[in-house]
Amino acid sequence: MKKIVALGGSTSRQSINKKWAGHVAGLIPNSKAHILDLNDYNLPLYSIDHEQNKGIPVDAHRLLEQIQSADGLVISLAEHNGCYTAAFKNAYDWMSRINKEVWNQVPMFLMATSPGGRGGATVLDIASKGFPFLGGNIIATFSLPRFYDVYSESGIQDMALQETFEEAFSMFQKAI
Ligand SMILES: Cc1cc2nc3c(=O)[nH]c(=O)nc-3n(C[C@H](O)[C@H](O)[C@H](O)COP(=O)(O)O)c2cc1C
Repeated sequence: MKKIVALGGSTSRQSINKKWAGHVAGLIPNSKAHILDLNDYNLPLYSIDHEQNKGIPVDAHRLLEQIQSADGLVISLAEHNGCYTAAFKNAYDWMSRINKEVWNQVPMFLMATSPGGRGGATVLDIASKGFPFLGGNIIATFSLPRFYDVYSESGIQDMALQETFEEAFSMFQKAI
């Protein structure tokens, strides 16, 4: 049984990215989805002073351990002002202080979704370029625009988007 870790890059209790990542992870056969919530990790705002005086928080180790022990990663990033949410970036920064190879070459399906028409395309582009420098093994990417209009548990309510998703999903499935 494969361990799939799903993560939404947001601390919103209603996060559409967490919902989407969890949904996609649940589509993978013969696997168990572990849906992480950034709210479950108590991480103060990163500062070098905190790190030197108090060390790296235990929850950064906990989160990294979850990520690095996965057989596959399904990540969906929320976009705030054209970039990562502060909460995601903070967790990422803490984890990178433990091990620069944060993503540990675990096969990753990297996605983003938003209520608007761009589907988090900017943060997806930033992460696609940046993650490989920290051990990211990105197998496929997918951006889901207009989340509230097109998302449904039975599939994306837009044929072209659903086809694009299936192609990306199938590449990821083959890699894990
Ligand atoms: C501070 C802030 C900045 C945002 N900036 C963007 C943005 O740059 N691009 C975008 O598509 N949506 C932006 N949004 C809207 C988010 O896409 C929307 O809140 C979405 O639900 C976030 O994902 P989440 O539900 O997983 O947290 C922003 C929202 C907030 C609160």
